[in-house]
Amino acid sequence: MKFFIDSANMDEIKEAHELGILAGVTTNPSLVAKEGADFQERLKEITSLVKGSVSAEVISTQADGMLAEGRELAQIAPNITVKVPMTEEGMKAVKVFSEENIKTNVTLVFSSVQALLAARAGASYVSPFLGRLDDIGHNGLDLISEIAEIFDEHDIDTEILAASIRHPMHVSESAARGADVATLPLKVIRQLFKHPLTDQGIEKFLNDWENR
Ligand code: E4P
Repeated sequence: MKFFIDSANMDEIKEAHELGILAGVTTNPSLVAKEGADFQERLKEITSLVKGSVSAEVISTQADGMLAEGRELAQIAPNITVKVPMTEEGMKAVKVFSEENIKTNVTLVFSSVQALLAARAGASYVSPFLGRLDDIGHNGLDLISEIAEIFDEHDIDTEILAASIRHPMHVSESAARGADVATLPLKVIRQLFKHPLTDQGIEKFLNDWENR
């Protein structure tokens, strides 16, 4: 499983990039709005730093508008992935994008059949939202397992991108259940590195070295 950062903040993206584990970036309209930066300019900055997939979401709700926006976003850099919501109109647009070799990430996926529909429309990635499912009393991780089973059974290449991740256990379980990518807030990326026994071990090694 690869790691993406879920952020439109350049400081956060740089910090994650320097850690050496970053394979891509996802943004969404809420994350971009929080930054107050020009969307296209920010995407240029991100894509010049991170060479893996950088998801940029369309705002239109109709396929024609999504296609116009997505084609413009795809011009920014070859590693732009156009993020499209899981709707009928969205899937019409995904089909056309796939014929034009524009990569897509179908977002706001909350069921395995939605993921299958997105894959059949030609999506490069599907994004099941774990945390938001947990928030309403469902088990987001079970959705990863279901999608992975269906994609395996039917030889589907679309990558499963675990999104709306809230804590390290979402990450380890997503990896174990077959997600290809997890997109994480910087806070969760930092948490992944931590283990109290690692800290204790370093402290003991350093103490022993000082007292040799
Ligand atoms: C990523 O592609 C999603 O937009 C993001 O993970 C959503 O996370 P949230 O549910 O914490 O807003």
